[in-house]
Amino acid sequence: MEAGTLPAEGVRAMFDRIAPVYDAMNRVMTAGLDGRWRRETAEAVVSAGDRVLDACCGTGDLALADLRAGGIVTGLDFSERMLERARRKSSQIEWIQGDALALPFEEDSFDAATVGFGVRNLEDLERGLAELARVLRPGGRLGVLEITRPSGLLERFYDVWFYRVVPALGKLLPGGKAYTYLPASVKRFPGPDDLAGLLREAGFSDVRYRLFAGGIVALHTGVAE
Ligand SMILES: C[S@@+](CC[C@H](N)C(=O)[O-])C[C@H]1O[C@@H](n2cnc3c(N)ncnc32)[C@H](O)[C@@H]1O
Repeated sequence: MEAGTLPAEGVRAMFDRIAPVYDAMNRVMTAGLDGRWRRETAEAVVSAGDRVLDACCGTGDLALADLRAGGIVTGLDFSERMLERARRKSSQIEWIQGDALALPFEEDSFDAATVGFGVRNLEDLERGLAELARVLRPGGRLGVLEITRPSGLLERFYDVWFYRVVPALGKLLPGGKAYTYLPASVKRFPGPDDLAGLLREAGFSDVRYRLFAGGIVALHTGVAE
C-alpha cells in the first residue's frame, strides 16, 4: 500500500510501532521547537478551569501543555502504545483510548480542544473536525497544530528535510522506518487556507491561523458555534 494512504488500522498499528522513538524523533525533527509550539497552542485556547480535550494525544505532550495552562484535561488516542507513554507523564490527566472519528463524549462536554500533529493522520478529516465541533460547547475554542507546506525560499529546505533527512533518521531508529510515511501524509494534507475553510465548514467561526518556523507549522484556532 502506498505510504500516506494508510487506512485507520494501519495508522494505529504504525503509531504503536513508533511509540518508543516518537518523542526523540519530535525533538530532533523540530530542533526542540515543538515544546514552544505546544505551549503557544495551549495558551491560545485554554483558560484556567476549562474542561479540555486533547484529541490524538499520542505520548501526551500537548495534553501536558493544556494542563499547565490550567485545564482539566482528557487525552484521547487510539494507539495503546502511545498512551502507555502518556500515562507515565501525568496522573492528573485522564487518558482514554478511543477514536477521534467517533468521540466517546456527549455534546458540549468541553470548553476547549487541542489537536497536535494529529488531524493530518485522520482517515476522514471532515468527520474528525465535525466531532470536535460536536463535543465543544458553543463558544468553546479549538486549537489545531499541524505541519504544513511553506511557500517561497523555505520550500526547498523543507523538501530536503522531510523527503530525505527525516526518513533517513527514521531508518536509524528501531520502528522508525514508518517515518517514510510522514512526507506523504504532509503532501496530501490541505494547506493553511484550505484547512481554515474546512474548519469553517465544520462549524467553527473566527477561524485564524499563525505560522511558525517560517511556515513549516501552522496553528489554526476557531470558536465552536
Ligand atoms: C503524530 S502523532 C501526534 C501525537 C501528539 N498529539 C503530539 O502532539 O505529539 C498522531 C497521533 O494521532 C493518533 N490518531 C490518528 N488517528 C486517530 C484516530 N482516528 N483516533 C484517535 N487517535 C488517532 C495516532 O495514534 C498518534 O498517536
